[in-house]
Amino acid sequence: MAVETASRLALARRPRRLRRTEAIRGLVRETRLTPDGFIYPLFVCEGRGVRREVPSMPGVFQLSVDEAVKEAAAAQVDGVPGVLLFGIPDKKDATGSGAADSDAAVQSAVRALKRDVPDLIVITDVCLCEYTSHGHCGILDGEEIVNDVTVSHLAQVALSHAVAGADFVAPSDMMDGRVAAIRQALDERGFERVGIMSYAAKYCSAFYGPFRDAADSAPQFGDRRSHQMDPANVEEALREVEADLVEGADVVIVKPAMAYLDVVAKVKMRFGQPTAAYHVSGEYAMLKAAARNGWLDEPRAVIECLTSIRRAGADIVITYYAREAARML
Ligand code: PBG
Repeated sequence: MAVETASRLALARRPRRLRRTEAIRGLVRETRLTPDGFIYPLFVCEGRGVRREVPSMPGVFQLSVDEAVKEAAAAQVDGVPGVLLFGIPDKKDATGSGAADSDAAVQSAVRALKRDVPDLIVITDVCLCEYTSHGHCGILDGEEIVNDVTVSHLAQVALSHAVAGADFVAPSDMMDGRVAAIRQALDERGFERVGIMSYAAKYCSAFYGPFRDAADSAPQFGDRRSHQMDPANVEEALREVEADLVEGADVVIVKPAMAYLDVVAKVKMRFGQPTAAYHVSGEYAMLKAAARNGWLDEPRAVIECLTSIRRAGADIVITYYAREAARML
């Protein structure tokens, strides 16, 4: 009886009509996930033939320059257009002086990539935390990071990446005024064409945990709350993004991604600029752990997450899943 009544309803709108077959669903799909918006982070270390898996990030490796080139070339074959390089130095000191060394792992990797995989977009992370013995993102006075001294150091690091041939530098330190300082340093040396992809709204997040294993960059005391943003704030994110754009950022990054999709959406809507979201190490580790336990269908969960990040408004998704996801699509 109930069924009969229902079958006689004359509904003007039946949303299920558009969900009936995969072809129809494809026709009306609003967000199309393609690898051309993916950026693949790589951890580059010293040595040769090194391929050391990061325990908390299965499938992610610390790679020597030769191995990083192989990995990047394979990613390009999978359809990934760009890589983001992090350096893992053998030696660290209080000022992170190794970060601007023209022969360090990142600078060497940039040169090798530009020689062997010339069409690949090469982006370099600019920060001191992997290079300082104390693991903080800048130069310390006591236990405090001194902003302006750190900024001039970061500008030299960015310049060394540009000299090596980077297409973009990506400052992730969250010091005030670093985008302007980097822009000026690049322009003075004739690197107008090198872009700045700034981590404009970078939150102080627990989801960076596995990265700090991978990059050996956990702070030896204290935390990063004096410069990374409070997860509770979004107005502040918009001010940070505006400041970076005014200072000359070409692309702005929101980081992490999944827990901050409202921030991604607001940044994209308010500024309409090229926007990236960083699907960080903890987000990757959670998916991997659940998949390894058989608790999640990994390909479905990964595509759902990356699609959501795009749907929120990100043009670019920086993700350790870039290669795997490109192959799934
Ligand atoms: C360096 C940096 C970090 C990440 C990117 N750049 C770590 C941090 O701020 O502690 C995190 C990336 C990730 O978790 O995948 N400052």
